[in-house]
Amino acid sequence: MQITKSEYTTSSPSVAHCPAGERPEYAFIGRSNVGKSSLINMLTAHKGLAKTSSTPGKTLLINHFIINNSWFLVDLPGYGYAKRSKKERQRLRTMIEAYILQRWQLANLFVLIDIRHDMQAVDREFIDWLGQSGVPFSIVFTKADKLGSERAKDNAAKWMASLGDTWEELPPYFITSAEKKTGREELLDYIDGINSPGADKVAEDD
Ligand code: GTP
Ligand code: MG
Repeated sequence: MQITKSEYTTSSPSVAHCPAGERPEYAFIGRSNVGKSSLINMLTAHKGLAKTSSTPGKTLLINHFIINNSWFLVDLPGYGYAKRSKKERQRLRTMIEAYILQRWQLANLFVLIDIRHDMQAVDREFIDWLGQSGVPFSIVFTKADKLGSERAKDNAAKWMASLGDTWEELPPYFITSAEKKTGREELLDYIDGINSPGADKVAEDD
């Protein structure tokens, strides 16, 4: 799939403020600084579309970006950032949970994991909650450029295996680098497959 147009739409303080309409959307979540905003810029090939920062805690609202005038990418704040006040953490948690549970336009949630890290409790708890809540999600490993490609593959496989301790059926996963544009085609094709179900089949039948 080609992205021909990507534009900032809105920043919403709650799910009630998110854009109206029926367009499907794809949101990015994960710990602060994991690379959510950078991945959106990489996918759209639009530098500076989503604001990034080397300091965790940059994204604080629900940011919608309209793609090809037909679907949205959504940048969410990170979870598990200890340096925020308790009140601010609670506000973000409530906002993110309400968005995930109530936003029926959410076609898939991408959960981002730094490929260098072992399974952490905060990620496991979040993923267990997604599974129990029946939210469609997949895993995206980020910053693969920080490891060699073999080690990146090994770490991702190991991480998925530890998810398999509690989950019988594992979600799809992707290995990416915003820096090197790794995984771009795979992610865009995956989104395209959800946006246009059956399109592959039609092509095969022709
Ligand atoms: P919050 O909005 O604060 O939750 O962070 P975020 O998850 O949106 O992370 P962001 O995209 O702002 O990136 C955080 C830092 O990681 C920045 O310094 C990025 O340059 C860096 N970064 C993101 N993706 C990659 C990547 O693929 N490779 C490398 N080497 N650095 C990356
Ligand atoms: Mg961000």
